Amino acid sequence: MAQRETLSRPPGPRGHWLTGNTREYEADRIGFLRRCHREYGDVFSFDEQTVFVIDPNLTHEVLVRTGDDFVTELAPFDMRRDLDQAAAQATAWMCARRTAWPGLGRSAAAASDGRTVEILDAVMADNADRPVDVLPVMRAFTARAIAEYCFGADCAGVPGLLHEIIRATQPFTDSSYEFPAWLPIPRHRQFFRAYRRLIDALTALVRQRRASGARTPRNDLLGFLLDADPAMPDETVASTLHSILMGGHGVPAAALTSIVWELARRPRLAGDLRDEADRPTGGGAPSSAASLPLAEAVVRETLRLTPPAWLMTRTAGAATTLGDWSLGPGDDVLLNPYLIHRDPRWWQRPDEFDPARWSDGQQAPGPAYLPFGAGPRVCLGSALAMRQLTLATSRLAQRFTVTSPNAATVVPEFVGRLAPAGLRASFLARSG
Ligand code: HEM
Repeated sequence: MAQRETLSRPPGPRGHWLTGNTREYEADRIGFLRRCHREYGDVFSFDEQTVFVIDPNLTHEVLVRTGDDFVTELAPFDMRRDLDQAAAQATAWMCARRTAWPGLGRSAAAASDGRTVEILDAVMADNADRPVDVLPVMRAFTARAIAEYCFGADCAGVPGLLHEIIRATQPFTDSSYEFPAWLPIPRHRQFFRAYRRLIDALTALVRQRRASGARTPRNDLLGFLLDADPAMPDETVASTLHSILMGGHGVPAAALTSIVWELARRPRLAGDLRDEADRPTGGGAPSSAASLPLAEAVVRETLRLTPPAWLMTRTAGAATTLGDWSLGPGDDVLLNPYLIHRDPRWWQRPDEFDPARWSDGQQAPGPAYLPFGAGPRVCLGSALAMRQLTLATSRLAQRFTVTSPNAATVVPEFVGRLAPAGLRASFLARSG
């Protein structure tokens, strides 16, 4: 008891009397966080309700305590902070998540290797031999790949709806200023319209599939879910697939853009990847991710240096403690894989891109590597993502010489998903 009474709020910068630290943070997010980390240590307050945690063990503790003491990010743009509603939604989601898990596991993911390469080839055929903005091209690939993984040949309209929702979400991810969701401002209306259109389309696909019955069993995630839990209501199937579609295209596209950035700056690495892909064990045309250890190491290292989910949020459900600190109900805890992945206490030469640290199946140092999160809400698509990204890295290096006019000057953007936004590149088809 005596010890509890000594617990207090973590220290942190006071900031401007009216705007707090938001302006300084907005001007240079990572610079601001690095400064605070240096001055206040591994746990610091951003404002009265927001705490940043940079310590890997405490980060894991928060992630593991999700569902008990912490809830995940509340519904988009919901400022009512209804913690009971968030807890009820989380219980429903965890049930659907358990059902979907095997459908996204290693062996299920491996079955889609061939189609992953075909979809990438088709997207690149439209974008090769001329300068392109890399992020939208990678999004075109990941949106088609995840839509087809979920709905097979029925997925036709889904990628377009995913692009629409990315556009509608942009204004929110670009800024940390929030407005109440009920405010009828254009960006809220646009977002809810796009969200509704996507959910309606997914629900219609689920209903059509059920109506077609067992006569046409399909080898996709929708078929898997209907098989695994025939009593799952249509709306639950649709919202589960919605979460998977949302997680499964924007973040991997950001990761692939960072991988292209590395390829454009490292012709020798691209050559090594090409050799690996061309080796007979690589199969010439890579149809399996299992035999591509260098490509996999490049993916792991890129996710270390440029983790697309660079910031994760949890909210304390009630008054609680974290390490030596106290938190109040509704306090947000922000977790930062980017700074952990570049901390010299856990990584040698932390800012250096070195895939060799992952060679021969070498593992990360303890809890200091978490591109896919951890705990009960760890990424549901990590096995699929690793396979898709490994194959795509190998295939891009094998088929194209990647050059970029701005790879040397572009910088990663710390808004929404971390990626070298604005990266342009030409994918020049290799002969032979
Ligand atoms: C490079 C690729 C990816 C990265 C780095 C990544 C990263 C993450 C991270 C860090 C989280 C946890 C967020 C948190 O705890 O707040 C997460 C959650 C999630 N991811 Fe991924 N992800 C990737 C690809 C995918 C793919 C391909 C899918 C779909 C097949 C997917 C589906 C999901 C879902 C549904 C969640 C929410 C899980 C839950 O809340 O229970 N992700 N992802």
